[in-house]
Amino acid sequence: MSGELDCLFTPHRVAVVGAGTKPTNLGHMVVRNLLNGNFDGVVYPINPKHESIGGVPAFPSVGQTPEAPDLAVLCVPAVGVLDVVKQCAEAGVKGIICMAAGFREVGPEGRAMEDQVVAICRANGMRLLGPNCLGLQVPGRRLNATFAAHMPVPGNIALVSQSGALTAAIIEWAIGKGIGFSKLVTLGNAADVELAAVLDYLADDKDTHSAVVYAESISDAQAFTAAAKRFTARKPLVIYKAGRFAASAKAAVSHTGAMAGADEVYNAAFQRVGATRVLRISDLYHTIELLSADRIAHQPTLAVVTNAGGPGVMSVDALSERGGRLAEISPATLDALNEVLPTAWSHANPIDVLGDAPAARYEAAINAAVTEEDADAVLVILTPQAMTNIIGSADAVIAAAHTTDKPVLAVWMGGGAENEKAIRKLTSAGIPTFEFPENAVDAFVNGTVSQRHADQAAAPVAAQTDDLTPDRERAAALIASVPETGLLPETESKELFDAYGIPVALPRLATSADQAAALADEMGYPVVAKIASPDITHKTDVGGVVVGPKNAEQVRAAFERIVANARAAKPQARIDGVVIEQMVGAGNAELILGSTRDPSFGQTIMVAAGGTSAEILKDSALQLAPVDAALAREMVESLRIWPLIKGYRGAEGADVDALVKVITRFSTLVAEHPEITETEMNPLTVSPSGAIALDARAVIDLDALADPPARYSHLGILPE
Ligand SMILES: Nc1ncnc2c1ncn2[C@@H]1O[C@H](COP(=O)(O)OP(=O)(O)O)[C@@H](O)[C@H]1O
Ligand SMILES: [Mg+2]
Repeated sequence: MSGELDCLFTPHRVAVVGAGTKPTNLGHMVVRNLLNGNFDGVVYPINPKHESIGGVPAFPSVGQTPEAPDLAVLCVPAVGVLDVVKQCAEAGVKGIICMAAGFREVGPEGRAMEDQVVAICRANGMRLLGPNCLGLQVPGRRLNATFAAHMPVPGNIALVSQSGALTAAIIEWAIGKGIGFSKLVTLGNAADVELAAVLDYLADDKDTHSAVVYAESISDAQAFTAAAKRFTARKPLVIYKAGRFAASAKAAVSHTGAMAGADEVYNAAFQRVGATRVLRISDLYHTIELLSADRIAHQPTLAVVTNAGGPGVMSVDALSERGGRLAEISPATLDALNEVLPTAWSHANPIDVLGDAPAARYEAAINAAVTEEDADAVLVILTPQAMTNIIGSADAVIAAAHTTDKPVLAVWMGGGAENEKAIRKLTSAGIPTFEFPENAVDAFVNGTVSQRHADQAAAPVAAQTDDLTPDRERAAALIASVPETGLLPETESKELFDAYGIPVALPRLATSADQAAALADEMGYPVVAKIASPDITHKTDVGGVVVGPKNAEQVRAAFERIVANARAAKPQARIDGVVIEQMVGAGNAELILGSTRDPSFGQTIMVAAGGTSAEILKDSALQLAPVDAALAREMVESLRIWPLIKGYRGAEGADVDALVKVITRFSTLVAEHPEITETEMNPLTVSPSGAIALDARAVIDLDALADPPARYSHLGILPE
């Protein structure tokens, strides 16, 4: 599968179509870049009017080159692309890079043209990068198939970007820093080769040890999550996603819909596949710098060596904020440090070597720090003080880094010529060097690949994780009973949950006050009475809920009051009657358990603190469906109200296992039913005796009901 992209990354013969003689001509630039980069394959400039371009022989068409090209770089304008792609197919070309803009991004005509190009590529087994892209670079093969004049040195980081312009900026920055890359790929419109295909290829690419992604949108979620999981099971993946706050136009029926923001879904997706998300583009640069050292930490534990207290504290603050930890200095390391440091040293991590530290003292302290077993990396901070040897201390860092495989990071604060010289020395020795302690710590945490992440990425995804056999026939019948509004009422929604083994307070319908009283007598008091209407989903809003009637008389009064309230608030609403259900005690907490559909990542599952202030408190956890018991537990434990659920200040804890079971069964229900687009229980009350849904609603997609979509097609992560 991944071998399919060899035509792009390891071509032997590259044709450049549309190569002119003018130095400003796009194709001419690409030919120049290939030649100047010393590409060790063959370059065929294609130009019917000239014998040679840039000093190498030109050919009139891709079909007339001495040997068939593997790769064709198309530098012709959009209108000419379709013809050339057809010629490429005839000539036996395997890969195409299309640089021209003017396709999908300009409107329907462009989109139609793009679709035609892709269709021809697919029909002929060709892979297409772009259109509307900068091309790609493989420094290790000296392949610069872009119109960016320069190429970084070979390295182990792959950069995959949806922005050509940003890539051009990163290239120039990286060259200045001496940072190397295995591959630099710009996706442009990603008409054929998208992020998923590239990640899938890079997962197996031995030259690539980590990948950094700039993404604007992710089209095929299932392909992306599968490829990203494969990648992160082996190596770090860092993603910057642009457009965090794009307004979501969706009108949500449920609380879940209102609370599950589009940006949180990206967090959930990236976390699920074991990728690290960075929120600032500066963090992306810093993380690239860290990864360029090609050393991976597996725990965010850091030893800090500093000649200044303040910047040491800054690094500790940054580390705590990011969930990292200061390494604990072992007695052996402590002894070693005591031997080489003056008695006034900090005797703890951060290892403060004091303001008067000469280079030799730094060196001795760094050497001791890198051997500390609890530290997965060492950060050395220097501020220029009277006795400081700015260059000599940099040499000490470089020397110590040679004695260890751990990441060694530097922060040389201050400025001026000497400082710049030291930073240049550090950088060219491959020591990631940062301006401020926070930058260093952020990069370190972003580049750390925890075993937990890797394990999670490697874990199988299952739609069902317990031994329950749901009553699928009953569930299907209930879903099919949905009225034309698409809203499944409380009773049917609860029965649906019940069919999947979820405890619910089952309502029974009364059409008269006397019948309500009779039902309540049968059930036992206290009860809850609620309006039953296909046109009312938020019952409290219309005065449609009475909690706690204790006898028949109170039930009759509640019936009359509820019906009158509903008639007054919503005169048009059809009223079926009033339902009576058992009143359930308050328990430890009222939660919301919901599911909503994200346009990119499909069905999601949310657990949140419920109650009337749910949307203000926003205490929620989101995951892509399906979730297993471990993920469900992680979601619950991540809530701020977790102490209330677990039991707090002597209060008895809720039955967390029962809650986890409700979540996984809910997940199974949602995974098995693509026609349920939105559903929630609010509240789901948790107590020492279990978890029970007191209210329920579901939104059914009537089109999907009539014409069922493929199994699991509504999920962003495919169960095995
Ligand atoms: N069976 C029940 N036992 C105890 N309290 C309940 C029960 N059903 C509902 N409630 C309480 O009444 C509130 C409103 O009822 P609910 O069915 O959620 O209506 P809605 O959300 O449509 O306004 C719930 O949030 C819960 O606090
Ligand atoms: Mg409710």
